[in-house]
Amino acid sequence: MTDTDRTTADRDRRARQTAERFQEVYGAAPTGVWAAPGRVNLIGEHTDYNDGFVMPLALPHTTLAAAAPRTDGVLRVHSGDSSGNGQIAELRLDALHPASDGGWAGYPAGIAWALREAGLPVGGADLHYDSTVPVGAGLSSSAALEVVTALALDDLYALGLARQRLAQLAQRAENAFVGVPCGIMDQTAAACCTDGHALFLDTRDLTQRQVPFDLAGEGLRLLVVDTRVKHELGDGAYAQRRAMCERGARALGVHALRDVPYAQLPAALDRLAAETGAPGDGAPGDGAPDVQAVVRHVVTENRRVEDVIARLDAGDTRAIGPLLTVGHASLRDDFRVSCAELDLAVEAAGAAGALGARMTGGGFGGSAVVLVEEPAADAVAARVTEAFAAAGYAAPRIFPAVPSAGARRLV
Ligand code: GLA
Repeated sequence: MTDTDRTTADRDRRARQTAERFQEVYGAAPTGVWAAPGRVNLIGEHTDYNDGFVMPLALPHTTLAAAAPRTDGVLRVHSGDSSGNGQIAELRLDALHPASDGGWAGYPAGIAWALREAGLPVGGADLHYDSTVPVGAGLSSSAALEVVTALALDDLYALGLARQRLAQLAQRAENAFVGVPCGIMDQTAAACCTDGHALFLDTRDLTQRQVPFDLAGEGLRLLVVDTRVKHELGDGAYAQRRAMCERGARALGVHALRDVPYAQLPAALDRLAAETGAPGDGAPGDGAPDVQAVVRHVVTENRRVEDVIARLDAGDTRAIGPLLTVGHASLRDDFRVSCAELDLAVEAAGAAGALGARMTGGGFGGSAVVLVEEPAADAVAARVTEAFAAAGYAAPRIFPAVPSAGARRLV
């Protein structure tokens, strides 16, 4: 992949081009250029809306926004290079209301709406975007778009918002304005990740820890396998899983599934079996899991995050591999959010000698992550690509996940 900002020179060039394009589109120079990254999640999937633990890292792929303030209460947004014919979408801040569609412009509009709804003094702005975050690949291109907009407006209007607060406002925009019931992980990753680290986040109290994740230094590589199966969070299955988690928590008399300790999982599953009369070992028929399986995934996944951290803290990065693979099985068999392409990526990577692999993000398509010894990376990638060809699937896009910086001002 060449579309990442590998070097400072690459990054500066893209920032300059984005500023120049802004000038072409709007006829004046921008006040600044900001960046926010896509992410992969190392471990802790479908735990963030259960008050649980997550561990994302930022990718070197970023969404840039060049921006300048306006005094007339209008928000103008544009994306596309000079070869494209991107249109300027123009929105009045006082006329913004949730679910007022507008395609991708709904994300920046939602940010302006969420900031204003929180009582913050945000006025109009012109914004031009340029992104290298793959869309629909489960790599949080929407969170990157939201967070870069929030950071630009924060700076333009001197709001002084803390990073986690920016992430919360971005989540609010996505939940209430765009209408996707996501958790807080992706926006926090885009806002708070740092170079060379994975971010441990407790989604209950929002405490964070930057955990050193020096893959290159240890002779390792984390590959992203984008299956090119478009994942859509808005299609109902995500909301349905969320509702099942809430049902499980209610049945167990806890505030959130986070409150079920790992040691009490067998007792919790027995209690659910008694209450629902279901055996807890299969799907009710429509591909959705039963409530025991959902609870089992969330409780064991929180435990896996803690285990991964313990191994990283002990300096044993290689030892996290099996935890990733077990996590994938849990998402596939219990939570039921994987798909054939993701399963094949994980299986083929494992067969080719990867240390571990799992789907990452919401699932139903999107991407997997694969932990490999650096010298084996190309061979593992080739084997996954071959397996996709043999199965008649479109070629996956495979690239390294280099733990990168979170949102920042570039110019
Ligand atoms: C999506 C959501 C996140 C999180 C993941 C699953 O990426 O946006 O909040 O729930 O799915 O872990």
